[in-house]
Amino acid sequence: MLASKSTTKWIYKIMEQMNTEIACIRLGDVHIIPVTCPTIAREFLRKHDASFGSRPITMASDIITNGYLTTVLVPFGEQWKKMKKIITNDLLSPLKHQWLQDKRNEESDNLMFYLYNKCNNGGLVNIRIVTQHYCGNVFRKLFFNTRYFGNGVKDGGPGIEEVEHVDAVFILLNYVFAFSASDYFPCLRLLDLDGHKGKVKNAMRIMNKYHDSIIEERIKQWKDGTKNVEEDLLDVLISLKDVNNNPLLTKKEIKAQVIELMMATIDNPSNVVEWTLVEMLDQPELFQKALDELDNIVGKDRLVQESDIPKLNFLKACARETFRLHPITAFNVPHVSMKDTIVGNYLIPKGSHVLLGRSGLGRNPKVWSEPYKFKPERHLKNDGSDIALTEPDLNFISFSTGKRGCPAVMLGTTMTIMLLARLLHGFTWSANPSISRIDLMKSKDIIDVISLDEPLEITAKPRLASKLYNVCNK
Ligand code: HEM
Repeated sequence: MLASKSTTKWIYKIMEQMNTEIACIRLGDVHIIPVTCPTIAREFLRKHDASFGSRPITMASDIITNGYLTTVLVPFGEQWKKMKKIITNDLLSPLKHQWLQDKRNEESDNLMFYLYNKCNNGGLVNIRIVTQHYCGNVFRKLFFNTRYFGNGVKDGGPGIEEVEHVDAVFILLNYVFAFSASDYFPCLRLLDLDGHKGKVKNAMRIMNKYHDSIIEERIKQWKDGTKNVEEDLLDVLISLKDVNNNPLLTKKEIKAQVIELMMATIDNPSNVVEWTLVEMLDQPELFQKALDELDNIVGKDRLVQESDIPKLNFLKACARETFRLHPITAFNVPHVSMKDTIVGNYLIPKGSHVLLGRSGLGRNPKVWSEPYKFKPERHLKNDGSDIALTEPDLNFISFSTGKRGCPAVMLGTTMTIMLLARLLHGFTWSANPSISRIDLMKSKDIIDVISLDEPLEITAKPRLASKLYNVCNK
């Protein structure tokens, strides 16, 4: 494992060599159970969901969650129950989603403004910057009621503060479950041999640099009464009360939870949209189909709105296909077994780390014909009924399922489809003339190459009347 450059690749290779869809790899004292078979995956997260609802204790998750005060990375227990309830009921309920619509709209409109300005400056666009910063902007708007931490940038793009902020999130995401040797061999913990601890701590320092002063000031405002109306999700977190009318969450809990939610918000939608565009450039007929759908449903006299999403079935099929073929991570967030359990005739010992293979499930040839071909049509329904991005059958993983499933299907779907739809409907995209063909083949032999080596850089031209882009840049 240590000799191999990438542990995820090493695991997939072992499974391929053994021709198996479930394996058990012992790292130190830990049994790692990778799974690429949907039937077995369903046994884990449906039939035996109650037994597999915990998370591993790792160096990175301990630092990020400030000692397990949050939700996603927290082992099963009272803290997880409390925080998951708050996130599901108080932050992500349908009512809150509606309450926050104007803020999301401001960021969808700023996206158009920013790209239109890019068009007026040669039109070359780094799609990764655009997608990651749209997601970062939405997050900052929802939680901090601001797009910018600093003075902002006139063209609507990210400033140095936002670039540093989003880069720090991706460092945390890269190292959160990166098979740090010290997680399996605790005697190595103090040494930080692979350097992961230093990187995580540094990224956390950057996150705290931006978040702490805002959160502390806001708590003070609520305490001294200068603030008494909830305007964003940070206000909601601060205002929650326990049965004795005391604050339900401590400052530490709020700070840690906000960072973890930022990690949960940015990675998937930005990755899906970048990869979908790559695949569409490779198969231009897909571009045309998506545009036909958009022109048919939205027309060319207005911008796409969130209310259009239910009708954009081809776009949703494209997003599903990207979740299947190009997931952001090779494995789902680990699930830890809380007792010895028999799954698929195998004894899974208590404490095992179950890793559902996102790329392994999505590219499983027993489930998917031509698994490496990007074919959105495979997700369309014969009766034309609505398509969702969820996949509770685990034939690939988008929002996963069960008690540790993602509580943000509505927000995640809205962000992904609005971003994709606005990019496609608002602009005509063409590959940079110096790139003859985007190298899609890479992802075929190297199963854990998740994002493109280089960010996608393509050229945009407006396709709508100019007045539609000159939206108020709030
Ligand atoms: C397209 C967007 C998103 C996708 C595809 C996605 C996917 C996922 C996945 C695969 C998991 C792990 C499930 C498991 O352990 O089996 C997860 C967990 C989670 N996600 Fe999302 N997510 C998205 C957006 C968001 C957003 C926007 C938020 C909140 C603002 C969020 C909050 C959470 C939380 C709190 C958990 C932890 C659940 C738990 O451990 O109990 N996600 N998500």
